[in-house]
Amino acid sequence: MSLVQLIYVSDLVGDNEAEIAAILKSSVRNNSKNGLTGMLLYSHGNFLQVLEGEKDAVDATYQRICQDARHRNTIVLTEEDVTQRHFSNWSMGYRQLGPEHVASLPKYAPYFQYGFDTSAIKAKPGVALEMLELFSQGMI
Ligand SMILES: Cc1cc2nc3c(=O)[nH]c(=O)nc-3n(C[C@H](O)[C@H](O)[C@H](O)COP(=O)(O)O)c2cc1C
Repeated sequence: MSLVQLIYVSDLVGDNEAEIAAILKSSVRNNSKNGLTGMLLYSHGNFLQVLEGEKDAVDATYQRICQDARHRNTIVLTEEDVTQRHFSNWSMGYRQLGPEHVASLPKYAPYFQYGFDTSAIKAKPGVALEMLELFSQGMI
C-alpha cells in the first residue's frame, strides 16, 4: 500500500469548454471505483489537476488521461508519496478560475490569471498544491 499524489498541467484542445462536463462525469465515476480523489482547476484553456490514491491506480489513470485527445501538453509537476489524502472529500472536485479570483487572490493571480503559468509554478515549490487546496475548500 503506497499513497501518492500526482499534480500535472495540460492544455484543452480547441475551445469547447462543454467537454469539461463530460470529463468530470467519467472522472467521478472511475475515480470512485478506483479509490482516487482529487481536484481539477481550469483557467483560460489550461488544466491543473491533482490525483491521489494508491500508486498503481494513480499511474494507470494518469496514463489513460495522457491518451485523451481532449487535451495535450500534459506535464507532471510533482509525484510524491503522501501519508494522507488532501482531497478526501472529492472523487474529482472542479473549479473554473476567473477574474473574480484574480481580484480576491492577488498572491496567486500571477500563476493562473492568463492560464496556468507552468514555469512560474515550477519555480515555486508547493504553490500548485496550495492553489488546489484553496479552491477545493470552496471559500473563494
Ligand atoms: C483534463 C482531464 C482530466 C481527466 N481526469 C480524469 C480522472 O480524474 N479520472 C478518470 O478516470 N478520467 C479522467 N479523464 C478522462 C480520461 O482521459 C478518460 O477519457 C476516461 O478515464 C475514460 O473512461 P470512460 O471510458 O469510463 O469515460 C480526464 C480527462 C481530461 C482531459
